Amino acid sequence: MSFLASLEGSAIAVLIRETMWTYPGIISVHAIGMAIVVGIGLVFALRALGLGGRIPISSMDPLLKLAWIGVGLNVCSGLLLFIADARKFLTMPTFQIKLALLVAATIVFVMLVRRLEANRSGNDKALAMISLVLWLGAITAGRLTAYIK
Ligand code: HEM
Repeated sequence: MSFLASLEGSAIAVLIRETMWTYPGIISVHAIGMAIVVGIGLVFALRALGLGGRIPISSMDPLLKLAWIGVGLNVCSGLLLFIADARKFLTMPTFQIKLALLVAATIVFVMLVRRLEANRSGNDKALAMISLVLWLGAITAGRLTAYIK
């Protein structure tokens, strides 16, 4: 039995697949996590584009902690959604694209925050635009996962 098949056969995967409210409950947590992560990602990108330019970056630090909590929520809830149908998701282009965009969005987010904290002006706007496109692309690919098999 493949590793993915054994994941799908696990007691928790069966529970997620075969009980009425577990999957909807987990995907709701996933949506909340997404709102936190992408919401904060957008706030930093808009700040780099000049919105709220008088807000000191240091005062946005608590948002960073919240963003990592959101990432934690989505990695945990995402893995639970994933194991319920691992072989299906892993072969889906929308799912692969989503994960790739998420990794890129997280790297660009960290770069952007470091630049803002170092107060090094320059191509923050370009980085901010890339960040916006990556986060919005990840959400779109995530949503299309339910439609494009
Ligand atoms: C910050 C990170 C993440 C964001 C912003 C995100 C975003 C999304 C979005 C927008 C959806 C569609 C939700 C819906 O249909 O209502 C989704 C679904 C899903 N996500 Fe994520 N996700 C993240 C991380 C992950 C991770 C790390 C995994 C697993 C390794 C994952 C696995 C899934 C799965 C399996 C679905 C499927 C839903 C379905 O069609 O039933 N996600 N995600």
